[in-house]
Amino acid sequence: HMVDTFDYVVFGATGDLTMRKLLPALYHRFRDGQIPEDSRVIGTSRSRLSHDEFRDRAEKALRRFVKDDSLDENTVQRFLGMVFFASVNGAEAESTWDNLRELFGDDRADVVRVFYFATSPELYGAICKNLHDNGLVTEKTRVVLEKPIGHDLESARKVNDEVGAYFEENKVFRIDHYLGKETVQNLIALRFANPVFERLWDSDAIEHVQITAAETVGVEGRGDYYDHSGALRDMIQNHLLQVLCLVAMEPPGSLDADDLRNEKLKVLRALKPIREEDVPNVAVRGQYGRGKIGKEIVPAYLEELGDGKQSDTETFVAIRAEVHSWRWGKVPFYLRSGKRLPNKVSEIVVQFRETPWSIFKSKLEANRLIIRLQPEEGIQLSVMNKVPGGDGMELRPANINVSFEQAFGARYPDAYERLLMDTVRGDPVLFMRRDEVEAAWTWVEPILNAWKKNCSPVHHYPAGSWGPDAARKLLAVTRNAWHEDM
Ligand code: BG6
Repeated sequence: HMVDTFDYVVFGATGDLTMRKLLPALYHRFRDGQIPEDSRVIGTSRSRLSHDEFRDRAEKALRRFVKDDSLDENTVQRFLGMVFFASVNGAEAESTWDNLRELFGDDRADVVRVFYFATSPELYGAICKNLHDNGLVTEKTRVVLEKPIGHDLESARKVNDEVGAYFEENKVFRIDHYLGKETVQNLIALRFANPVFERLWDSDAIEHVQITAAETVGVEGRGDYYDHSGALRDMIQNHLLQVLCLVAMEPPGSLDADDLRNEKLKVLRALKPIREEDVPNVAVRGQYGRGKIGKEIVPAYLEELGDGKQSDTETFVAIRAEVHSWRWGKVPFYLRSGKRLPNKVSEIVVQFRETPWSIFKSKLEANRLIIRLQPEEGIQLSVMNKVPGGDGMELRPANINVSFEQAFGARYPDAYERLLMDTVRGDPVLFMRRDEVEAAWTWVEPILNAWKKNCSPVHHYPAGSWGPDAARKLLAVTRNAWHEDM
């Protein structure tokens, strides 16, 4: 569907996210015919670039991050014709704002205006104030806040307060790109359109749940950001907790933004609080050392940071969580995320309980539902079967497999495509409300505090392994194991 004409202004436009995700996403939707050609994409940063210099960078980014079969010359040139640049120091109320103001004449006052903040979150408040003071906020203006929103509860509140001083909540879009992934949205369909799952979706039938987001990449060029963040802030506080919410929430009354977000918020508030003294028992942190991924030897985290820097920042986290509600009781939800693991894979494993009694000699394996978010998006359900032939009843597990790609034969759009278009349309359903972000920080914060006080060690793991042994032990206490063969 074609959206209304818009001006999309990105702060932090020379950064990695803009080049890698935002420009390619807008290009794809333009190519799909969803963006009117009189729309504009306006990059801003402190750099002094001309429109053409920024267009050059944008073009290079498209050539690098858009697949060849989606790059046609004519579309690329038309898209670049919509790209502009303004040199602005977002933090300071000085004259550079004129550079941006000049781009907006009276004739653009009715056009949808989106300001996307891909800068450090400390600047969000100042940028909002300056947008306001420079008369750049119109009726149809929205702001998009990239994560991280703050680095703990207090700083998140501060960012939300500062932004909230200039924009009402329904104009503020807090992005969590995991919510833009097709397969994450499909969780809602899977659960609430298929009674065969939902009827078994509770502690009576489910023994535990695992949510994993594993990556093979290291921190690459992002050391400055990452070393102040770590995996808990970078992945767990947002992406994994959002996925957990969709797995654990009650059926919302409708798909309206607030119905859905109310249910997610209830899950976040029902998370069993982790006290600082419990952290060593329920949370594991690790940092990768040198190792081998496939055939490649890759450097240790500290080597990637360089300059002989020392750091305790975690590149791996595993946590045992519980959602204290009537539905879930004491069912453990294991969360795990790490860099430099053997495979890039995000998945949810729902481990069902064993049969109460067995009439078979073969050992039975309990059913397991695997929801693969990426790559090879799909679902897999393991079931026990009779081995064909033979005289007796020998049983073995086999899988029922659905590959979404085979079933639908469609391209999997990048998460940002959907989300950027939603910000233009003004649809907040796949964005986090203020109270969700703060509830997530509330739960995560004692872990951050305990680690800051060094209550538990940073386990080192070789790159290319599934993380430290301690992560295995976290599950072993309940005789469970990570679903490792991914
Ligand atoms: C980002 C994190 O939010 O998510 C990155 O900052 C991480 O560190 C990325 O690599 C993972 O996203 P995806 O979509 O590749 O799973």
